[in-house]
Amino acid sequence: MTAQSFRRVAVIGAGKMGLPIACHMAGRGLHVTACDLNAELVAAINRAECPFDEPGLAELLARARRDGHLEATTQTAAAVGEADAILVLVPVLLTPEREADLAGIEAVARLIGKAVRAGALVSFETTLPVGTTRRLGALIAEQGREPGRDFRLVFSPERVKSRLVLERLGTTPKIVGGLTPACAEAGAAFYAAALGAPVLRVDSLEAAEFAKLADMIYRDANIALANELARYAEALGVDFAAVRAAANTSGEAQLLLPGIGVGGHCTPVYPWFAIGDAERHGVELALAADARAVNDGQGAWMLDRIERATGSLRGRTAVVLGLGFRPGVKEHVCSPAFLLRDELERRGARVLVHDPLYATEELAALGFAGVVRLEDARADTLILNTAHVPYEALDFASLATHGLRVVADGRNLWDPAAVRAAGLVYLGVGRP
Ligand SMILES: NC(=O)c1ccc[n+]([C@@H]2O[C@H](COP(=O)([O-])OP(=O)(O)OC[C@H]3O[C@@H](n4cnc5c(N)ncnc54)[C@H](O)[C@@H]3O)[C@@H](O)[C@H]2O)c1
Repeated sequence: MTAQSFRRVAVIGAGKMGLPIACHMAGRGLHVTACDLNAELVAAINRAECPFDEPGLAELLARARRDGHLEATTQTAAAVGEADAILVLVPVLLTPEREADLAGIEAVARLIGKAVRAGALVSFETTLPVGTTRRLGALIAEQGREPGRDFRLVFSPERVKSRLVLERLGTTPKIVGGLTPACAEAGAAFYAAALGAPVLRVDSLEAAEFAKLADMIYRDANIALANELARYAEALGVDFAAVRAAANTSGEAQLLLPGIGVGGHCTPVYPWFAIGDAERHGVELALAADARAVNDGQGAWMLDRIERATGSLRGRTAVVLGLGFRPGVKEHVCSPAFLLRDELERRGARVLVHDPLYATEELAALGFAGVVRLEDARADTLILNTAHVPYEALDFASLATHGLRVVADGRNLWDPAAVRAAGLVYLGVGRP
């Protein structure tokens, strides 16, 4: 099968990743059908209304619709039946027991099994526990189509991140692992043509799945190390930012930034895909598990420091600044704000949340009491979770006159001297 054979593509899951990928491929001349369960999303895409705040996406979507290279549908089976390549980008999150919740993607596999046509490429891009793609291939096979013989099966993890998707899709090496060498070859040919990115072939489905998890665990463990060292720096009274900058000049160290926690449906989630599975294989991923504990414990660590500096939080009012887990991005999955809220409430504090990207009703639906004007909160404690740009210029002097006493700068956004000049207690991460 040559790259020329892949004319029609079905992307299952037209979300923050799937839609930009669909538009990128449409922009390279393929005919792409974006499939989603969400009828409103599908209708918006077909009206060329961009549903996500992704740089460059609105223009690309408008062009793809105008050129007739992209359409969206809720009729996934029909689109799969016509596709030469099927890409799966539906999310896999965690169950309450911290196992991968595979029910949704298994349903997608069964649906593909019913509709996939002979010779097509099926590529799972959603991050998965090692061994899952092979099992999904077996589910597809239950419908009578044999992977490797009747269709090509690959795993090719999506490695770009939102707000940088279109900037990076054409340059980030696309890892491809196949069920057989012929599957991998077909996958590599497809991605080279459809993405225009360098392709990195690995030996197996499992190696490709593992590469994505290793990347995520590295990131989580690196941040945890930075967080631990920042705690040590706080105890020593040394500025960790300067230590980190100096250490990172060796050409060996690449310490990431410490902070009040790690959010999103990637870094805090995917290590669990490996931790439990490794245990079943008799291997303890102690560092990965410890990293999760350190990073999830950063909020409580900051609250301990607040209590050491200013007394018990019981009966006090705290405002968490920022629900989203990335500045300027309206995404809150696994945001550290949830851990902060729970820990503050456990200590008897009243918790309010401020985020310029969310309406009060949206905050309420997520279990947060929202505040629109910070002065109205009359809070004595301010805890920064998200370094949204508008927070850079907070009027601390004014807030101090409205009862503020302590500022916990979870992202080291502010100049400590300026905050202290307003008569407030300042606590940063790794800052003396
Ligand atoms: N968002 C990121 O920054 C990022 C980065 C790298 C990799 N990824 C990977 O991409 C996956 C998708 O992420 P996302 O941010 O696009 O998620 P998302 O929640 O924005 O979008 C997922 C879409 O899939 C749709 N969907 C769910 N089940 C479906 C089904 N059975 N059939 C059709 N559509 C279905 C949903 O309606 C939703 O629109 C993640 O699970 C992750 O593995 C995401």
